[in-house]
Amino acid sequence: AASFAVAAPMSAFAQKKIVVGFSQIGAESEWRTANTNSMKTAAAAAGIELKFSDAQQKQENQIKALRSFIAQKVDVIALTPVVESGWDTVLKEIKDAKIPLILMDRSVDSKDTSLYATHIGFDFVKEGEMAGQWLVEKAKTMKGDINVVELQGTVGSAPAIDRKKGFEAAIKAEPRIKIIRSQTGDFTRAKGKEVMEAFLKAEGKKINVLYAHNDDMGIGAIQAIEEAGLKPAKDILVISVDGVKGAFEAMIAGKLNVTVECSPLLGPLVMSTAKDLAAGKTVPRSLIGKDGVYPMETAAKEFPSRQY
Ligand code: AHR
Repeated sequence: AASFAVAAPMSAFAQKKIVVGFSQIGAESEWRTANTNSMKTAAAAAGIELKFSDAQQKQENQIKALRSFIAQKVDVIALTPVVESGWDTVLKEIKDAKIPLILMDRSVDSKDTSLYATHIGFDFVKEGEMAGQWLVEKAKTMKGDINVVELQGTVGSAPAIDRKKGFEAAIKAEPRIKIIRSQTGDFTRAKGKEVMEAFLKAEGKKINVLYAHNDDMGIGAIQAIEEAGLKPAKDILVISVDGVKGAFEAMIAGKLNVTVECSPLLGPLVMSTAKDLAAGKTVPRSLIGKDGVYPMETAAKEFPSRQY
């Protein structure tokens, strides 16, 4: 049998695997599932050991997970903070433990930006603006007041705050556009449907437009609109954010007017950044990607190339 003369134990050459602790929010949407898959696949491809923790939408669970990553002495931590506020204490603990921190997708409102190495994600204000600009353009073909109901994301989350802000800024260009009701639908289909039912009950045919902070709530609301005997995308225009496959299917079916893209496929960039940080390299303070707007007219053509 063949044998090899080994001069030194193999372990002397074996490279230590980088360990990344990742605190994910949960699985509230199609987007979030795609994001989790992207992180897991990219970690495996990069030869990184990923310690994955699902917080079930609770900040306290995320804080516990972060403390356990510190105790386990992981090389890098990735965090998608469910809400913007209340992170300073635990982020300081991470900094004191000298573990580089990557904020992925959502960010925090901490004044001390030295608490994290980088933020990798998208500009949520811009996404809200693009949604509003689409409506301002569409308003040119509409008569009279344009009454909007808004389904907000999770209360206190960066995308809910920023997508609201961006949309409100953009619709100022057309004074006929007014937000008549605005409530959280927690970024889920079920809650989006439930809140839309309440909006329809309260405002009925006064509603001209639904603006949902994500596709899942938009899709849930479409069901509510249909059950109320109205035609989504016709009687009530529907605008949402994310660009998931479900939204493209709804557009192809003629039920959703437009989706603003926000890619969940951040895994590869997070993993290459984690490798750089583990090697002691400096990385850009923020890596913010570019989004696109996909109106229903382009949906069938775009669908085959959509990756999430
Ligand atoms: O933080 C990004 C948002 O969170 C996505 O728009 C939404 O679908 C997700 O749950």
